[in-house]
Amino acid sequence: MDQPLASRTAPTPRIDAVQLNADIEATARFGGTGNGGVSRLTLTPEDKAVRDWFVARCIELGCRVDVDPIGNLFASYPGRNAALPVIMTGSHLDTQPGGGRYDGVLGVLAGLAALRALKSSGIVTEHPLTVVNWTNEEGSRFSPAMFGSGVHAGAIALDEALAVRDRAGISVGEALDAIGYRGSQAYRQTPAAYVELHIEQGPVLEAEGTAIGTVTGVQGLRWFDVVIEGTESHAGSTPMANRRDALTAAARLILAVEAIGRAHAPGVLTVGHAGISPNSRNVVPGRVNLQIDMRHPSQTGLDAMETALRQAVAGQADSRIERIWAKQPVAFDPACIEAVRQAAVGCGLSCRDIASGAGHDAAHLAALAPTAMIFIPSRDGLSHNEREYSSPRQCADGAEVLLRTLLELDRR
Ligand code: GLV
Ligand code: MN
Ligand code: MN
Ligand code: MN
Repeated sequence: MDQPLASRTAPTPRIDAVQLNADIEATARFGGTGNGGVSRLTLTPEDKAVRDWFVARCIELGCRVDVDPIGNLFASYPGRNAALPVIMTGSHLDTQPGGGRYDGVLGVLAGLAALRALKSSGIVTEHPLTVVNWTNEEGSRFSPAMFGSGVHAGAIALDEALAVRDRAGISVGEALDAIGYRGSQAYRQTPAAYVELHIEQGPVLEAEGTAIGTVTGVQGLRWFDVVIEGTESHAGSTPMANRRDALTAAARLILAVEAIGRAHAPGVLTVGHAGISPNSRNVVPGRVNLQIDMRHPSQTGLDAMETALRQAVAGQADSRIERIWAKQPVAFDPACIEAVRQAAVGCGLSCRDIASGAGHDAAHLAALAPTAMIFIPSRDGLSHNEREYSSPRQCADGAEVLLRTLLELDRR
């Protein structure tokens, strides 16, 4: 007699949504701000604590964990055929100061949840699977952002990244040693494919009521440092007419920067950091440093914005500008994007194509391997904010699509 159909079909692995949500809660405690947010700057004690937690979970699951010389963590789960290249997923465990509990960590925890789902359903993939935590995605302590994946993909030299210093003068190499996450060997596997789940960090999916974004690419970005010199002098005894106030000059420049951003839509331009020297109430500011972030989906758009920005700085006496980092716009792999689309449809979820406004490690991985990303909605479009939120259901939907995408890529 025929076996009942159900026992002949392979079991369908499912994400444990309750466990995934518990993991989000657990990781939010490392660097938790008390206001629902997380401050877990890269390579700090808080980052060490969440890394230790992640490594312990991976080892419990039966993964082998490798740490490379820039501190990227690779948790590998065996497939049937060890000779095949790994299929890789992951994201980052670091956050912005006063950041949220989803940006980055969701993609790492969803990778873990996918491995757990495979293990508990007894499904073994052909390819080994690797869940990765990339060092310093955020770039708020060390510039540039995404240098963990950048070093892995060969876009940034390891020595250069290790030598970068934070505002306190601590180098990346010293910070890695301090938390015990400087590995001795590069992780040499070139993945067969890379797919990353992330929150959208913008308003599009929520506004449309769409569950899943199939990400087509990442806009280009350029970072600039601007210095404006004035003359430090006594706030009480320097007449208004005699001042060279670097901060008021900076204020004019910041408004000009905003106007340039508005004139170059869909480009965006932000002054995210201002350092005032000496930063004392009764001293006319003698020097201001501005950190500027510029993004646009096209190279020509970036060029036009940069020209306008340089003109604005040149129009300001005693100021100078330096471009410290540039990343071209990236288009993801059509076949990988299609795998995400099929996975979303297979999960019964609505989806739409979307371009990423934010930078992601996937943009570096795209130079190494066929790459795609999955977005889920962000409440009020907010990210880099303690109020960042995606519901447990939305997170589980994203993880489910990730799991299906990994299985789909494994079949190819
Ligand atoms: C960091 O999250 C960035 O996208 O710049
Ligand atoms: Mn992120
Ligand atoms: Mn971020
Ligand atoms: Mn980012």
